[in-house]
Amino acid sequence: MKHSLHNELEPDSIAARDLAHVLHPTTNLADLHRDGPVVHERAKGVYLWDNHGKQYIEGMAGLWCTALGYGEEELAKTAAEQLRKLSYSQLFAAKTHEPSVLLAEKLKEMVPFDAGRVYFGLSGSDANDTQVKLMWYYHNLIGRPERKKIISRRGGFHGVTVAAGSLTGLPPFHKHFDLPIANVLHTDSPFYYREAREGETEDEFTTRLANNLDDLINAEGPETIAAFIAEPVMGAGGVVVPPEGYFAKIQEVLRRHRVFFIDDEVVCGFGRTGNPFGAETFGIEATTMSVAKALSSAYLPISATLIPDFMYEPFIEASREVGVFGHGFTYTGHPVCAAVALRNLELMEEREIFQHVARVGETFQARLRSFEDHPLVGNVRGVGLIGAIEMVADKETKAQFPASAGVGAYCLNRALEHGLILRNLGDAMAFCPPLIIDDNQIDELFGKFEQALAETLDYVSRL
Ligand SMILES: Cc1ncc(COP(=O)(O)O)c(C=O)c1O
Repeated sequence: MKHSLHNELEPDSIAARDLAHVLHPTTNLADLHRDGPVVHERAKGVYLWDNHGKQYIEGMAGLWCTALGYGEEELAKTAAEQLRKLSYSQLFAAKTHEPSVLLAEKLKEMVPFDAGRVYFGLSGSDANDTQVKLMWYYHNLIGRPERKKIISRRGGFHGVTVAAGSLTGLPPFHKHFDLPIANVLHTDSPFYYREAREGETEDEFTTRLANNLDDLINAEGPETIAAFIAEPVMGAGGVVVPPEGYFAKIQEVLRRHRVFFIDDEVVCGFGRTGNPFGAETFGIEATTMSVAKALSSAYLPISATLIPDFMYEPFIEASREVGVFGHGFTYTGHPVCAAVALRNLELMEEREIFQHVARVGETFQARLRSFEDHPLVGNVRGVGLIGAIEMVADKETKAQFPASAGVGAYCLNRALEHGLILRNLGDAMAFCPPLIIDDNQIDELFGKFEQALAETLDYVSRL
């Protein structure tokens, strides 16, 4: 059933050697050993080519990250110049350099909340690990050591490191890993299509979720809760767009109990939802923020944890006591990553990428919604340039296909065969193209998907 290219592997091929040596992240390893990997070789704009010369249109921006697309000369040039000028420098022990300072300034200017300090990391996971550590550190320093618990949501994705993996609310990231750790709680997912009760309106649903959050906080003791973390749109959890009014009600509860809001903008940040940040699309009032992915359009790894000055201030006094602010990576503020990220953000502004997303997002959402009447499609959701089409066994009852039928994986492979890269989150097909995609390419993308979906319908009729 899989991509035909995978079946015969030359012993000396990259694919065969991959199978012998590489441990693949977030992969069904049993399927990988049966079917082999796809080998990407080069990419330009919204297109990639594999090692057989086959062309694909990028429907997932890599892993929700290649915002400006591939092969952007300006960013290659910036990286090369910075590599020659200052290939490495640290931010430890009172050192600094221009790229990190300029990027910190730029980020503070862009984000829709009163950010005071910017801490640089290399991934969304470490940004969220840093969030947890800083929440603990801050509350210890201000004499509130009991305020330690972080509330996340079932279905949320915040990374895979020990703390961030605990915040993630998806079972495969916990099972056999001894996660979640202590002090992490999970509340409801705002996934109306799957989680609403029979006959429940969106308004009733969001009120119930806010009440459940309130009950959870009261049961645990409000004085023990440090923060709530959420993605504006859940990405890896199925592209879940919250119903109207959800965040307003949640934030009313958080404010009442003085619980901070950690806004995980790792996927939504930098234009994805049609505004610079998801917080703007959904009225989120962040206390702190995590960004990564589109921050550098994935040209180099970099993330940032932004915190307000009132959290930072006690850190200074603590250094007098402890001797050092004891958190930092060798590559915190790597000058080449920072220079590339800064140029990436400048290019987004020069090319009016956020305005472009607001415009083409309408075409994209209209095409997405045109699949609503398809017999296999139970739910279509999305905003800006992100969306999902969920396939179901029964549109009326929303019954799912058995996981063993592998319907999402089948559709994914048919799309691949037609030269379209997507991701299946169960039987929901996720769409998240580079932000530079134009109307014609959106047409091409959905044209290929239409064929894949027709073939998937044929497949399920034979189950
Ligand atoms: C919302 C969100 N937060 C955090 C992460 C973790 O980022 P990384 O994979 O760079 O560690 C991801 C990754 O997909 C994400 O989607």
